[in-house]
Amino acid sequence: MKDKVVLAYSGGVDTSVAIKWMQEQYKVDVIAVTIDVGNEKDFSVIREKALKFGAIKALVIDGKEDLVKYFLFPALQANALYEGQYPLATALSRPLMAKLLVDVAQEEGAAAIAHGCTGKGNDQVRFEVGINALAPDIKILAPAREWDMNREQTIQYAQKHGIPIPVTKKSPYSIDECMWGRSIECGALENPWTEPPDDVYIWTRDPDKAPAKAQYIEIGFKKGVPVTLNGKEIDGITLINTLNEIAGKHGIGRIDHIENRVVGIKSREIYEAPAAVTLIQAHQALEALTLSKDQLRFKQKVSVEISDLIYNGLWFSQFNRDLSAYISSSQQYVTGTIRLKLYKGQATVVGRKSPWSLYNLSLATYDKGDKFNRQAAEGFIYLWGLPVKTQAQIQLLGDKEGPLSIVGKTKGKKKKK
Ligand code: ARG
Repeated sequence: MKDKVVLAYSGGVDTSVAIKWMQEQYKVDVIAVTIDVGNEKDFSVIREKALKFGAIKALVIDGKEDLVKYFLFPALQANALYEGQYPLATALSRPLMAKLLVDVAQEEGAAAIAHGCTGKGNDQVRFEVGINALAPDIKILAPAREWDMNREQTIQYAQKHGIPIPVTKKSPYSIDECMWGRSIECGALENPWTEPPDDVYIWTRDPDKAPAKAQYIEIGFKKGVPVTLNGKEIDGITLINTLNEIAGKHGIGRIDHIENRVVGIKSREIYEAPAAVTLIQAHQALEALTLSKDQLRFKQKVSVEISDLIYNGLWFSQFNRDLSAYISSSQQYVTGTIRLKLYKGQATVVGRKSPWSLYNLSLATYDKGDKFNRQAAEGFIYLWGLPVKTQAQIQLLGDKEGPLSIVGKTKGKKKKK
């Protein structure tokens, strides 16, 4: 009996070629697994393709709910943005895929899991580190990394084996999608000076051509998770899909990122992430209202760390669990509603409210009703500045040639002793 291999199958040329190629080279039976992460393809067509190209079995797994619950919303609570820009759509979907592939491999008694990633990207790292963490005994095959065919050769191989190449919509781009966003690379984008051509964008309208009238929306959060849209309860998947549509129509969520890959390459990536961008902005605004200054500052650091580890393929690490415990605890009072104005490429927060709001009008106001004790300011400033004053007298004024040399150079009148 031949060994079974579970292949992460997207339905594209590379993974289709991988079915044939692994049968030929490794003499294995291929089980194709396609995971629905909200990329809205016709999955029955993909399934049939896999069988037609020789897979002995083809499964489609709906991963949308798990993606939202275990990956996207925790990332939202962390405001996760890689290098401050990329909401990590692909990076968040790969560990889920790794988990589901491992499940199938174990059910099927497969000897190996295969993916179609080349040797240059981040996804190979995410798949393999994830699979190794969850099932250390399962072998990993990366045929596309091994076969050493360039694009042309891959296409020739495909044609020779009756795998059709989509010629009608010949896109020069490499694209990946899940409901948290869409990424576009290659083609004209490889020149970082070139403005992205219009045809890279599918989910977002050119802000120039976005509606002339602003649209207002309200997003309600409970413990850092969005649960209502315009006052109505909504499930995560529907919310994300709806926001992708609404915010996308207003041209929101375009990102042009020179990005540092795990494997040491700088690459130029375009993203469309209308829902992610809008939700993160809303969530941050609610945190600004409900978290203390110290929590906000510390959380930003945690956010940078979490974003990096997600990007770097380290989802299934204890470090992630540690940091996520902090994030989760920080969300206890992040409940309330954010009002946003969507207009010509921008989502702007214009209103916020929360039963746990730390905003205190009687402290903040400059109008009547002011309860802030101004007299207390004097003593506060005296103590706050005491260490600076003490040190300045000895070192700043005692060594006028030191750093901050303006001190020695000002022509202020000397006080008479
Ligand atoms: N650069 C992004 C990331 O590493 C997007 C990768 C897209 N993947 C792909 N196979 N096209 O997360």
